Amino acid sequence: MPLASPSSENMLTGRRIVLGITGSIAAYKSATLARELRRRGAEVRVVMTPGATEFITPLTLATLVDNPVHSDFTEDEHAGVWTNHVELGIWGDLILIAPATANTLAAMVHGQCDNLLQAVLLSARCPVAVAPAMDLDMFTHASTQSNLKTLAERGVDIIDPGTGPLASGLVGKGRMAEPEDIADHLARRFAADLPWRGKRVILTAGPTHEPLDAVRFLGNRSSGKMGFALAEVLAARGAEVTLVAGPVSLETPLRVHERIDVQTAEEMNEAVQARWKDMDWGVACAAVSDFKPAETTSGKWHRGDMPEAVVLAENPDILATMGRSKQPHQTLIGFALESDDGQASAQGKLERKNLDAIVLNSLKDDGAGFGHDTNKVSVLFQGGKSVSFELKSKYDVACDLVELWRTTLNP
Ligand code: CTP
Repeated sequence: MPLASPSSENMLTGRRIVLGITGSIAAYKSATLARELRRRGAEVRVVMTPGATEFITPLTLATLVDNPVHSDFTEDEHAGVWTNHVELGIWGDLILIAPATANTLAAMVHGQCDNLLQAVLLSARCPVAVAPAMDLDMFTHASTQSNLKTLAERGVDIIDPGTGPLASGLVGKGRMAEPEDIADHLARRFAADLPWRGKRVILTAGPTHEPLDAVRFLGNRSSGKMGFALAEVLAARGAEVTLVAGPVSLETPLRVHERIDVQTAEEMNEAVQARWKDMDWGVACAAVSDFKPAETTSGKWHRGDMPEAVVLAENPDILATMGRSKQPHQTLIGFALESDDGQASAQGKLERKNLDAIVLNSLKDDGAGFGHDTNKVSVLFQGGKSVSFELKSKYDVACDLVELWRTTLNP
């Protein structure tokens, strides 16, 4: 069953948005905006300037976004607790300032830092969008226009104000864009910023369990964490991900298109080969058992009736089968977990299975491989290029790999 499509309206699902509210009468619309962002699945944290709190209460916003609202540098002056503006700036996928007053726009241009929101902006690493709101003469004033131009040149996304009656009683351009239009604008922005859009990726993850009897199996210690992190990152960057998962206890990552749960290598193989011809990329992260018990019983072996020896039979090599039918438009990535440094062995698999790249991790490296939350990998490409990364969280490794594959194999 498809879980979600990257092209659906749910582009804001799971996005972390810092909503900055500044001192304009349009701040009353920020409540509707906050609710709309939440309705579309975004996680929202609000930073208000002191001016904004004159127009709408932090309590209203805190209730709507289900998170405390920040407006001071200190959370509790007497306890010496300060608001970590750096953490807020790093937390967000995007900072949206709505409404953005002429004063805030000017302060942004000059890097002033006299309130918490400005400090968050100065330490932010994520993109920034502003929805200006002001009277028409303020909006058309040469300083405001010049400030907007400067900000746009620096990459700030300007959400154009609308035209209509203004709080001053005048009619003209300067009304903050409507909350739903702002949410649509952000959704389009996230959708456009997806380098993997239009790419269909099939990804295997986790171990396989090969049954010996009704309760026992032959398996391995793979947790599936590396494969699930890759599925999450690929889907977040717009790929339509089909995740074929062995027995793992992990939640389906956000935006994954389809998840197929399997137990055995045969089942994984069937699921993958049936879909491979319709895919652009294949990523084989699963630790597939190369062998299975040649015979299994539907009941349970009891003490005394267990066999003297277990005969093993070979499982299909899923990745090698994909490699044999690979078409010119398809890209195939394998993984290799080696007990020594394994370069030569991984190189052999790269050739034998007709891969475009192979990701190598060595059991020798502390913190890498099965069961850990971290991993240390290097990637060998066809043609001899190789890239090594430091020990990182599996999520960060996934970010590195996804970017490296795209830029090297599909620039
Ligand atoms: N793989 C697969 N199907 C299998 C075995 C492995 O798809 N039956 C994939 C894995 O997902 C991984 C890659 O092949 O991407 C490397 O697996 P590995 O077991 O190390 O390769 P083998 O060629 O089986 O080599 P070895 O002799 O080391 O077991």
